Amino acid sequence: MSERVRVMLSEQEVDKRIQEIGEQISRDYEGKQVHLVCVLKGGSFFMCELAKRISVPVSLDFMSVSSYGSETKSSGVVRIVKDLDEPLKDKDVIVVEDIVDSGRTLSYLLAMLQDRGPKSLRLCTLLDKPDRRVIDVHVDYTGFQIPDEFVVGYGLDYDQRYRNLPYIGVVEFD
Ligand code: IMP
Ligand code: MG
Repeated sequence: MSERVRVMLSEQEVDKRIQEIGEQISRDYEGKQVHLVCVLKGGSFFMCELAKRISVPVSLDFMSVSSYGSETKSSGVVRIVKDLDEPLKDKDVIVVEDIVDSGRTLSYLLAMLQDRGPKSLRLCTLLDKPDRRVIDVHVDYTGFQIPDEFVVGYGLDYDQRYRNLPYIGVVEFD
């Protein structure tokens, strides 16, 4: 069986959209400093590209979580594998994610981060699969809404591979 990747969103399309979101965030946070929280590993490529396009002062932090449950179905109960280095108290925080799928991980994570007393807390995701939503999550900035297909690239993996693709694609088998 061979694998290939069909392009869903080209590098140019993704870059253009990230530029637009960066400009939007720069306008929304004028006169403030924005604290980007990256959810590893998937959010890392998007966060770096986004951070470069934000013109207000930016600080960064990283966390890594794993959700209990099977590989294909997240339970929503999140275990922190690597916590943030900095407190969130009084910061204007934007959580940067690769994709919102069922919403289970994010709804748990956002509630946990909210408890740490940020001045504000928003969510920015490169991709959103609204058809898959089980728990309602408010997304403040969305790159693209996509159909219910398993995608890779720009940080998203299939069995830890394809994160480095500079575009979003769908793995096909034949
Ligand atoms: P959920 O929103 O709690 O269901 O989980 C979202 C997480 O599942 C994301 O952060 C990804 O790590 C993973 N995920 C969901 N959909 C995809 C996909 O299409 N490709 C790769 N990973 C995905
Ligand atoms: Mg993720």
